[in-house]
Amino acid sequence: MLKRIAVLASGKGSNLQAIIDAVENGAIQNAVVALVVSDRRNAYALERARQKDILTACFNPRLFISREDYDRELVAYLEEQQIDLVVLAGFMRLLTPYFVLAFQNRILNIHPSLLPAFPGMNGVADALAWGVKVTGCTVHFVDAGLDTGPIILQEALPVARDDTAETLHQRIHALEHRLYPLAVNLWVNDKLKIQGRRCLVDEE
Ligand code: GRF
Repeated sequence: MLKRIAVLASGKGSNLQAIIDAVENGAIQNAVVALVVSDRRNAYALERARQKDILTACFNPRLFISREDYDRELVAYLEEQQIDLVVLAGFMRLLTPYFVLAFQNRILNIHPSLLPAFPGMNGVADALAWGVKVTGCTVHFVDAGLDTGPIILQEALPVARDDTAETLHQRIHALEHRLYPLAVNLWVNDKLKIQGRRCLVDEE
């Protein structure tokens, strides 16, 4: 049975595209991108999904009285769509414990820094401002904290002397597009084992 993936995205969706491409070219096996959800009607991620005839949905936060209310509706929809794995790709909302519990160990996120350094919205700019010489990206499981779940894969990259947040983020994006499909493929094919904070990757 193909594993059914839902990608949640608020923005341009380049990571979504990398995952769609990886499913198409076989880098992700035994899975289908079944659904793309956004909290923003105009997110380009939705357009990318439509171009591939992938089901889309928009959940507008203004129509819900609380974050938990939002997450309850969204979880109900994901369950209705028989989603196995939730992939956050630039989804600009913190999930409530309700959501995290409903999809425990079945939610992945990608973050543009080497966690636990520089969590939060501005990982790239924060790392640059701190003056680090090396940064990178992290794929991790999502728990109820802010970018705190067990780390699946990380890759580092040097900061150049003349980097701006934009140039640095561009190079991090290129890493992300390689790393995220790898991590999704590992999850889908049952190669990840969580032991406490550690996530062990089964390599054959
Ligand atoms: C990525 O840099 C990711 O690390 C962060 O949000 C950005 C999303 O970019 N969580 P895109 O929408 O996938 O292009």
